[in-house]
Amino acid sequence: MSWEDGISFGLSEEVIAVRETARKFALDEVLPLAGKIDQEHWFPSEIVKKLGNLGFMGACIPSKYNGSELSQVAYCLIIEELAAACASTSIIVSAHHSLCSIPILDYGTEDQKERFLKPLASGEKLGCFALSEPGSGSDAASMTCKAEKKGDRFIINGTKNWITNGPQANTAVLFATIDTTAGHKGVTAFVHDLNMPGISRGKSEDKLGIRGSGTCSLTYDNVELRAENVLGEVGRGFKVAMTTLNGGRTGVAAQAVGIARAALRDALQYSKERKAFGRVINEFQSIQNYLAEMVNQVDAARYLTISAAAKKDAGLEYAREAAQAKLFASEAAMFCANKGIQIHGGYGYVTEYPAERHLRDAKITEIYEGTSEIQKFVIASNLVKE
Ligand code: CAA
Repeated sequence: MSWEDGISFGLSEEVIAVRETARKFALDEVLPLAGKIDQEHWFPSEIVKKLGNLGFMGACIPSKYNGSELSQVAYCLIIEELAAACASTSIIVSAHHSLCSIPILDYGTEDQKERFLKPLASGEKLGCFALSEPGSGSDAASMTCKAEKKGDRFIINGTKNWITNGPQANTAVLFATIDTTAGHKGVTAFVHDLNMPGISRGKSEDKLGIRGSGTCSLTYDNVELRAENVLGEVGRGFKVAMTTLNGGRTGVAAQAVGIARAALRDALQYSKERKAFGRVINEFQSIQNYLAEMVNQVDAARYLTISAAAKKDAGLEYAREAAQAKLFASEAAMFCANKGIQIHGGYGYVTEYPAERHLRDAKITEIYEGTSEIQKFVIASNLVKE
C-alpha cells in the first residue's frame, strides 16, 4: 500500500478493481501525454475514445442504456485517477457524464434516453451542459436565454457561456427561461442535438489551465426545439440544474483530489532526488512540514469526496456534503500545487516540470460548477435548514 492508494477500507472488491483499471489506464495512456495536452491545447479524442471502450464515459448509467452501472463512489475514484494524470482529461469525462448524461437519466423520457443517453453512455457522442451566460454565472436564475413557446415548439434565443466540451460536444443539456420575470420558476431544461440550424459555437477560450478541454460559448438564434426536447417539466428546470450540479460537484471534488495528489507525487519525487547543503531536501524539516501538510490535505479532501458520493449512492440528501467536498478539495488542490512549486524551487516555476501545470489546473476547481463563495452559501443555508 502507498499513500497514493487512498481509502483502503470499506470499498467493495468491484470498486477497488475499477480503481485499479482506471489507475493503470491513467498511468500508461494518459500521464505520458499530459504535458502535450496542456502545452498544445490538444483535445485528447483518442483517449476519450478509449475511455468509452473501458465503459467510463457511461460509468453510472444502467447497462440497458449502454452504461457500466457503477456507483458514484467508483465514478469519483475514476475521476481522481484521471485527474492525477491529466486534469483536462478528467473534466472532459466529468462534464460529459455528471452534467449531461446524468440529468437525462434522472429526468429524461424513455425516448430521450434511447435517442440521447445511449450514444453518450457508450462514448460515441460527447455531452455538455449549457447553464451559465455572459451576464449570469453564480446567479444562475437570472438567465436571459429565452424559450418562447409557439404551439408545440420552443424558439430559443440567447448565448450560453463557459461551456466545457462546447467545441466538441454533440449533445447539450440546455437551460432557458420561458419568462424572464419569473426567476428560477421560469427556467426550463432541454436536451438537444448541437448540430442544428441556428446554433453557433464561439471561439475556443484560451485558458489558464485545463487547456486540453475545450470551452466555448453557444449562441442560439431562433433555434426550434420541440416538446420532446423538454427535459423534465416546463418551468421546473432550475431543480434539474441544481440537482445535477450536486452530483457534478462531487466530480469536481474528485478532480481536485487528483490534482492535489499529482502535486504531492511530483514534489515528493523531486524531494528525494534534489540535494542541498549535502543532503536530499526531504531531510530538512521545512520540506517535511510541507509534505505532511500536503498529504493531510489530500486524504481529508478524499474522505469528504467519497463520503458525499456514498451519500448519493445511498439515496440520501447530499447537497451540503457535495459543496463541502468541492470547497475543501479545491482549496487542497491549490494548497498542494502551491507548495509543490515551492518544494521544486526555480524548477517549479518553469514548464520543464509539471509542478506549474498543477497550479494552473487547480485554480478552475475553485470556480466552475459553483465558486467557493457559492459552495459556502450552499453549505451554510443547508446547515441552517437542517
Ligand atoms: N440542490 C437541490 N435544490 C436546490 C439546490 C441544490 N443544491 N440549490 C437550490 N435548490 C432549489 C431550492 O430548494 C429552491 O427550490 P424550490 O423552488 O422548490 O423552493 C430553488 O432551487 C431555488 O433556490 P434558491 O431560492 O436558493 O435559488 P437562488 O436563485 O437564490 O440561487 C444558488 C441558489 C445556490 C446560488 C444557485 O443559483 C447556484 O447554485 N448558483 C451557482 C451556479 C453554478 O454552479 N454554475 C456553474 C455552471 S456549470 C459550469 O461550471 C460549466 C461547466 O461546463 C463545467
